[in-house]
Amino acid sequence: MITRTTVKSFLDTASWISLGFLLLWIGISSCSAPATTSSIDQRVDSVLALMTIEEKIGQLNLPTAGDFVTGSAGSSDIAKKIEQGLVGGLFNIKSVTRIKEVQRIAVEKSRLKIPLLFGMDVIHGYESVFPIPLGLSCSWDMKLIEQSARTAAQEATADGINWTFSPMVDLARDPRWGRVSEGSGEDPYLGSMIAQAMVRGYQGDDLTANNTMMACVKHYALYGAAEGGRDYNTTDMSRLRMYNEHFPPYKAAVDAGAGSVMASFNEIDGIPATANKWLLTDVLRTQWGFDGFLVSDYTGVSEMVAHGIGDIQTVSARALAAGMDMDMVSEGFLTTLKKSLEEGKITEKQLDDACRRVLAAKFRLGLFDDPYRYCSEDRAKQEVYTSENRALARKAATESFVLLKNEKNTLPIKKSGTIALVGPLADAKENMPGTWSVAARSADAISLREGLTKAIGTSAKLVYAKGANLDEDAAFEERATPFGKTLHRDPRSATALREEALRIAKNADVIVAAMGESAEMSGESSSRTNLDIPATQKELLKALLQTGKPVVLVLFTGRPLTLVWENENIPAILNVWFGGSEAGDAIADVVFGEVNPSGKLTMTFPQNIGQLPLYYAHKNTGRPLQGPWFEKFKSNYLDVTNEPLYPFGYGLSYTTFEYGSVKLDKESMTMTDSLTVSCEVKNTGSREGSEIVQLYVQDLVGSITRPGESKVVSFTISKKDLSFYNQDLAFVAEPGEFKVYVGGDSQTKNEAKFVLR
Ligand code: BGC
Repeated sequence: MITRTTVKSFLDTASWISLGFLLLWIGISSCSAPATTSSIDQRVDSVLALMTIEEKIGQLNLPTAGDFVTGSAGSSDIAKKIEQGLVGGLFNIKSVTRIKEVQRIAVEKSRLKIPLLFGMDVIHGYESVFPIPLGLSCSWDMKLIEQSARTAAQEATADGINWTFSPMVDLARDPRWGRVSEGSGEDPYLGSMIAQAMVRGYQGDDLTANNTMMACVKHYALYGAAEGGRDYNTTDMSRLRMYNEHFPPYKAAVDAGAGSVMASFNEIDGIPATANKWLLTDVLRTQWGFDGFLVSDYTGVSEMVAHGIGDIQTVSARALAAGMDMDMVSEGFLTTLKKSLEEGKITEKQLDDACRRVLAAKFRLGLFDDPYRYCSEDRAKQEVYTSENRALARKAATESFVLLKNEKNTLPIKKSGTIALVGPLADAKENMPGTWSVAARSADAISLREGLTKAIGTSAKLVYAKGANLDEDAAFEERATPFGKTLHRDPRSATALREEALRIAKNADVIVAAMGESAEMSGESSSRTNLDIPATQKELLKALLQTGKPVVLVLFTGRPLTLVWENENIPAILNVWFGGSEAGDAIADVVFGEVNPSGKLTMTFPQNIGQLPLYYAHKNTGRPLQGPWFEKFKSNYLDVTNEPLYPFGYGLSYTTFEYGSVKLDKESMTMTDSLTVSCEVKNTGSREGSEIVQLYVQDLVGSITRPGESKVVSFTISKKDLSFYNQDLAFVAEPGEFKVYVGGDSQTKNEAKFVLR
């Protein structure tokens, strides 16, 4: 039975040998432009006319709530500023009661009664937490991804939040960078589709509805291209690469009507994004038509002093003049813009424009009509962390898992006999939600140990030992487990821990090893130069293998890791990323075979870090390698092949699929024409399964088939799908030959050829 069909497509703009593909996705749904009506403009003008310079600047100030707690609201420094009209919004404040209290100060005590925006990093769910974004992207399921954002908005708005700092759409091709966990991987087109799905999910059709919230696309731009994978680091690239590879997801989110955009920390062409006029005004507003508001990242304005482009007054003035509207946390705008205005360093028009855009956002959200629109205690009680939302988060988690290896059908395992569960991530509920899960109820998250125990009931016996700490170095473990995400470090020696694990493993029928990274080993400021599983865990794995029992590695990670040894030696590897609040139950669903895994990687797994950056859509050199490996004077390495360990698009299932040949409805198409590509996909295994079918020039099609069943998947290619930015940065399609490939991952050789005339 076919239960799901998604159509995904890729476009090849380079010659095919290197698989130098640019991913395209057929069937982008058209999204309406933001509804900034003339009536909003008029209302904004009428408010603006009443405002003093200080009040205008105040709207551009976005402090963090910090220790702003109920009871202290009236007397805190922020409260005083709100009263004086010196705050435009607040973030990092949770609970409807507290938010209501703060909103009341703004609308009852400030002179103009302008309501506040309430922001939060609602990144992958609110209290019902979905998989980390990189994991969720591996579902390739736009409907599910949109639903996850819808659910997050439903919960967050029920709890007082009206603005989320999501989606994060930075293209990421270097897994040393910890923030790859927050995005959708390496591909511009897949990233674009996900960006749009997220914006649709958060903002819905009507931003004024009390269950939709404003999206904030981040981090504009090129944040994922930090040199050396070190967070906040410099980026430097050609305009062609920006336009063809890194810009598309930001633009797609803008096209989908995203109400706000956050600037990135890095510099571009020598100027920090936060004050980069070309980026913020020329590209974003003039070329793409963005009419929402821009916010800096956390202290992004004051950090420009360290970047070396001036003192706080200079950098604040430069940011405003470049098109920045709101200053997150720095208070550079608040403390210096008036002076800059008096000294002629900025104009009142620049200030008015920024203020106008912030006010327009508040009108769009309906806050002027009802400042408490998102503050219903009843909704907070009834709509957050519901069983329905948690069930969706569990389903999403199962779709995000990627089966990397499954020798001799080691997985799924049976619910019988004795199962030994070992590893530092096995009983680690605080780590299940993953990085950037600000609103999570970590104490309630389902650990793997709980999930497996619940799933087996009385049919099998589960024995548990930690077996190893996250890392031998306690100081490293401390750095890797901040924000209460403890792994409850065991003070015993590595040997004592290992021996305990071996004792229980020896008498078990199967060993489930829960290992990898802690949740905060990826995410912000969690760059790594070594992408191995920490050595102490690897030692444990080796010892477990020596028992001769089947070992299943349940791999927790927020990024691609280097797993050559594991791939060679461990019979089964299930990559579960960080699955969210319901992770433990979801992993049990897949480990015991209730759900057949279908996730496919959206980021290449390298063999080693020396290959980085490694991604499938790379260009050919003039000396591409023709054979499998080393050839003198060809583009390759002496010590390792050019191949990844696991390519983009890779992922196994408990069943198998066979692909028929690629069929085209015609051999050539014109600029106004379209072409249909089809391929038969057959489930050749013994159980029902889902396969994400991928097509290059390019197309991916997902389907679920029953054993023995086959389905013809087809898609349409038109000119738009064959276009790219040329040397003049014009978006064009060039006549000539193209190839399409249809298969189960980006290395497929199943191809056909056509001509564009
Ligand atoms: C991050 C942003 C985040 C902001 C507010 C920054 O450090 O880079 O992604 O939205 O903090 O929490």
